[in-house]
Amino acid sequence: MMLNSSLSLPFLGRLPDLAKMSSQFDEVHDRKNTDSQKWQKYEGKDILPMWVADMDFQAPQPVLEALHERVDHGIFGYARPERSATEAVIEMLENNYQWRVKAEWLVWLPGLVVGLNVTSRAFASTDETILTTTPIYPPFLLAPRFQNRGVIKAPMALDGRTWVFDWDAMDNAVEPNTRMFFFCNPHNPCSRVFEKEELERVTAFCEKHDLLLCSDEIHCELLLDGREHVSISTLSKEIEQRCLTLISPSKTYNLAGLGCSLAIIPNDQLRRQFAASVRGIVAEVNNFGYVACEAAYRHGAQWRDELLDYLKANRDLVQSFVQEKMPLIGQYEHQATYLAWMDMQKLQLDNPGRHFEERGVGLSEGSFFDAPNHLRLNFGCPRSTLQEGLKRMKNAYDAATN
Ligand SMILES: Cc1ncc(COP(=O)(O)O)c(C=O)c1O
Repeated sequence: MMLNSSLSLPFLGRLPDLAKMSSQFDEVHDRKNTDSQKWQKYEGKDILPMWVADMDFQAPQPVLEALHERVDHGIFGYARPERSATEAVIEMLENNYQWRVKAEWLVWLPGLVVGLNVTSRAFASTDETILTTTPIYPPFLLAPRFQNRGVIKAPMALDGRTWVFDWDAMDNAVEPNTRMFFFCNPHNPCSRVFEKEELERVTAFCEKHDLLLCSDEIHCELLLDGREHVSISTLSKEIEQRCLTLISPSKTYNLAGLGCSLAIIPNDQLRRQFAASVRGIVAEVNNFGYVACEAAYRHGAQWRDELLDYLKANRDLVQSFVQEKMPLIGQYEHQATYLAWMDMQKLQLDNPGRHFEERGVGLSEGSFFDAPNHLRLNFGCPRSTLQEGLKRMKNAYDAATN
């Protein structure tokens, strides 16, 4: 597979900084034979994987050093977080989001998909339902179903190219037995960072319908263009008491394979209920997860800032390339994450995911997000990989439109 092939992209002339600047993120790492789900999917095939949400970048140097030190110790017994790891999380939340969290509010988890499943099981009974908006990250729909809980959906709306809540659709969707709202901010796949006014309306909505709020904020450190994340629990003491917040260093610092995430549950009763559903079923976080989490939150800020600049340039590249070379593909306002959500409707393909896959680029299929005719492109990769992916997309586009 040619990952380093340099493309001649005429419009790059208009992005001189992007074209010239070299960056640690430009380095192409071979991820084959490294237990990578993303790369295993197309093993032996000439298909560039741009689907599942991890990046083709090495984790920050301070994280690698902390992990090396932990490996050198050589003993990997049953794990518990050190006090310093807990403190790193608390300090990060206070410094970044002005949220003062108590140590006992934190529940460590080996993943947030686990968190969504445990939440479904803990807070809704089998004759109750959970509401979410669509399109949405697939486990929001699957976790309630896996736990034999009902899921109800309210479609989001578009304000120009920006995804927004459809408050009427949400009000109308709520049923007497709806117990909880699954909320994603920043939003995957819609790439929205919700404004404070929208968050206030979410809290009012939950209070009006007496819903618990599960706020998945796993992408909260991946805001582009200098935006600032507001953690919804910080809006009022009332919402803090009906909210559980899910976070993890895994997306930002590329640590998904280490399985370290957190639920923050300020309400004692809710936390007890959650803990009861975890006990004996959910595995502990492992030694490496705690170490990497602490190092990322304590020492990862500079690396993250450089990453955000790189991702912003990748986002701009995707948007200008699509606009100029593949104008029938619909794009949206992209405010956060390294996941670009695209509307393929005008290409009139029976199976858009397969069409692009057959032409050498593996994207995430929209139907899993409850949005057929959409595809999600992961641009968390070196620019040369992205250019190759876009070139392949263009071939597929031409095959669909000529
Ligand atoms: C919104 C959201 N929540 C949760 C996850 C997965 O979290 P984990 O890898 O901790 O299970 C993802 C992964 O892409 C995500 O986008």
